[in-house]
Amino acid sequence: MSKRFLILFSHLPTVQKVIFTCALGVLGLGYGFASLYVFESHAGRDGKPMLTVQDLVIAYSGNKTGTVLESSLKGPMSNMLPATENLAIIDWVRRGADQQEYASKLAPIFEKRCVACHNNRNPHLPSLEDYEGVMHTAEQDTGMDTFTLVRVSHIHLFGLTFIFFIVSMIFSHAYMRREWLKIVIVIIPFVAIALDISSWFITKLYEPYAWMVIISGLFMGVSFALQALISLYQMWFYTLPDDVVTESVTNA
Ligand code: HEC
Repeated sequence: MSKRFLILFSHLPTVQKVIFTCALGVLGLGYGFASLYVFESHAGRDGKPMLTVQDLVIAYSGNKTGTVLESSLKGPMSNMLPATENLAIIDWVRRGADQQEYASKLAPIFEKRCVACHNNRNPHLPSLEDYEGVMHTAEQDTGMDTFTLVRVSHIHLFGLTFIFFIVSMIFSHAYMRREWLKIVIVIIPFVAIALDISSWFITKLYEPYAWMVIISGLFMGVSFALQALISLYQMWFYTLPDDVVTESVTNA
């Protein structure tokens, strides 16, 4: 039987541990910002300030009783304008979005608060420069469209694979008595990525599936934290048990 070398953190030169530590630090920071972004762009859509399952249902499958305009005014666009103007727009939409009233009362609000970003020159955002544009966003909210989901999916698949490949290659140098546990921790995020992305599409068809978005996100986060913390701890603070030092060249 061939000998199998498990290269543990304590065998690595300091420079490599420094590289690993820097990479984990920056990735951890990135993870924090990504979580903040997810929270900011989804929370509040259902009218409650926290991030809820209902927020995710609205984001992916739409709001059966509202419009895109209303859910974004309650969610990601809520800090773009004072609450009184926000309510004035929502109230106007709910009363049927009358064109005359738009011209006299609403157009100035959109002009002042929204058009800097939402104009005809920016192809990525719905234009709010005129009544037609505004009305496009005041139609029934059917959630994120499939094309957007496809675009975000491929970015996520590539991005997350890079992140977890790096993190788990670092973590592979950790010492754990139970090798299977290490393997489970490493596999979880890859399974979670697949579940997470498929759940965006499935939530469009079956709303309770929004739970899967949260569950897979939690598993990913826990695995990331475990791998990073165990690695950092073992790199800098941990001394191997004596029996392992002599045994670290193990039989396969
Ligand atoms: C600083 C730039 C900026 C301003 C000002 C701004 N928005 Fe946005 N808006 C964005 C960005 C970026 C997005 C897309 C990102 C997102 O969905 O979170 C967006 C998304 C939206 C969407 C959803 C579009 C969609 O297809 O899902 C609506 C509706 C919207 N904004 C309305 C408004 C309204 C109404 C105002 C004014 C009260 C406003 N925005 C002010 C940048 C801005």
